[in-house]
Amino acid sequence: MRISNPPDASSLMATARSFGNYDLAAALADLIDNSIRAEAKKVSILFEPVEKDVVVRIRDDGMGMGRDELVAAMRPASANPEDPRELNDLGRFGWGLKSASLSQARVLTVVSWRGSESTAAIWDIDNLEDWSMELLVGDDALKLLGAPPTSNSGTEVIWSRCDRLLDQDISSTLDEQLNEKISHASKQLSLIFHRYLSGDAGNKLAIEMQGYVLKPIDPFMSHHPATQTVDEDQIKLRGKEEITVQPFIIPHFSKLTVEEREMLGGDEGLVRNQGFYVYRNKRLIIYGTWFRLMPHGELSQLMRVRVDLPNTLDKDWKITLDKSDAQLPVVLRTGLKELLRKFGKRSVSANRRRGVELTIDRKEPVWKRVAYNGRIRYQINRDHPFIWELIAESQDSEIAREALKLIESYVPTEAMIKDREDNQLEQVQAITDPEIFEVLIDACFMACLRQTGRQPTLNEFLEFANKMEPFSSQWKYSESYIKNNLKEKWSLV
Ligand SMILES: Nc1ncnc2c1ncn2[C@@H]1O[C@H](COP(=O)(O)OP(=O)(O)O)[C@@H](O)[C@H]1O
Ligand SMILES: [Mg+2]
Repeated sequence: MRISNPPDASSLMATARSFGNYDLAAALADLIDNSIRAEAKKVSILFEPVEKDVVVRIRDDGMGMGRDELVAAMRPASANPEDPRELNDLGRFGWGLKSASLSQARVLTVVSWRGSESTAAIWDIDNLEDWSMELLVGDDALKLLGAPPTSNSGTEVIWSRCDRLLDQDISSTLDEQLNEKISHASKQLSLIFHRYLSGDAGNKLAIEMQGYVLKPIDPFMSHHPATQTVDEDQIKLRGKEEITVQPFIIPHFSKLTVEEREMLGGDEGLVRNQGFYVYRNKRLIIYGTWFRLMPHGELSQLMRVRVDLPNTLDKDWKITLDKSDAQLPVVLRTGLKELLRKFGKRSVSANRRRGVELTIDRKEPVWKRVAYNGRIRYQINRDHPFIWELIAESQDSEIAREALKLIESYVPTEAMIKDREDNQLEQVQAITDPEIFEVLIDACFMACLRQTGRQPTLNEFLEFANKMEPFSSQWKYSESYIKNNLKEKWSLV
C-alpha cells in the first residue's frame, strides 16, 4: 500500500530558513547568482528602513520571468540538484531564491516583468495554508515595485519582515545596525564577485548597494606591478574535467599603500587570508584556507592560489546549499599538495631575504624581531619610512646600509641586560623636544604623500602616522600635535 505523505507546509518552510548558513552577504550573493544567469548587466540593492523593520529590494535588469516561469521559480526545490546544469549556471539546488531570502525575511515577494507582461508572487511564512501562494499580474504586480521598471525586462526580489536581518537588541540603533550590515556585506560582495565587477569573467556586471557602485576587491592584486604569478597549472579530474590552478605571490607589505594593505587584509588580516581562493564559474565560493594542506603561517604568507572549478564538479566538491563552503575532493589532494610544495619554495624565497618576521602587524616599528635558522635577531626595519629615506637620500646608499648592519651587529645586549638588572638603564625613547618632533612628523607626512601618491585626508594621515614609531608609541601626544599644529599647515581636511 502507498499513501501520500507530504510535508507540513509551515514546518518545511521554517526549516528552509535554516538551510545552509546564510549571512546577509551570502544570501544576497545567491540572488546575484540568479541575476547573472538571467544575463543581467546591473543589480541594485536597496535597504529601506520602515518603522522598526527594513525592506530590502534586489533588482536586476536580466531577462525576467513569465508567469509560468515565476510560479516554477517560487516552488520550493524547483530543480533537481543531480541534474546537469548549463556551464554558466551558478545555481544548483533549486532552493537559492527561497532559502536565501527566507533566511533573512519572513515574506518573500518576487516581481518580474518582460515586455508588457508582469507577474508577482508572494510567499509569507506566516500564511502558507497548504502551499497556496499569492499571485498578482499586470499593474497589481508592478505596484509592489519600489520604483517603476527602467529596463525592458527584469526582476525585483523584495524581502520584508526581516526578522533575521537585524538584532532586536537595542544597544545600537536600527540605522547603526543597518549601516554596519550593509558595509560588511558590500565588502564581501566586492570580493565574491570581483571577477564579474571588473569584467574579467566575460560579461561585466555592475552591483549597486544603497546607490554606491561596488568596486572589485582582487585578492591577488593581479594588476599590481609587484605581484608575481607562477605558471598556471591544470589538474585533470576523471580525464576530462579541468581545474585550473594559478598561484600568485602578492607584493611584500612594504610595497603596498595603506589602502592596498587594508584591501588585501580583508576582515581578518593579511596572514589569515592567504591560501586557496576557490571559484565556481568565476564566483568566489571559499577563500583563505589551505584545506589543511599547508599550515597558516609566516612561510606561505605571500602566496594565494586561485582555483577555478567548473560547475560540473559540484558533487566532488560537496558544494553546500548556500555555496559558502566546499570540501577538497580526495583525488585532488595529492595534485594540489605537489603544486604547493613547488610554489611554496618560491614564496619562501621571496621572504627569506628578509628573514621571517615574527611580528606581523601593520605597524612599522624601528626594530624588527626576526627568526633566522631557529634563532632570534633584531634588525633595523629598512621599510620604516625614515630609515628608507636615510638609505635613499644618503650619498652612498651602500655605506648607509653597511652602517645599519654595523649598528645591528654591535647592539650592546650584554651591557644593557646587566644595566637593566641593576636598574641603571635609562631608556630614552620619548621625543619631547617639539622641534625634533616637528621635523620627524614633516618627514612622516612626506612619506605618506609618497605612498598614497596624493594629498591624504586628515584621517588618512592620522592612520598612517599611527602605524609608525615613534608616533604610534606616543599616540596621544602625536594625535593632538597633528590636529592642533599641522592640520592647517598642510591643509588637511
Ligand atoms: N533574477 C532572476 N531572473 C530570472 N530568473 C530567475 C531569477 N531568480 C531566479 N530565477 C529563476 O528561478 C529559478 C530558481 O532559482 P533558485 O531558487 O535560486 O534555484 P537555482 O538557482 O538552484 O535554480 C532559477 O532556475 C531561474 O530560472
Ligand atoms: Mg539560484
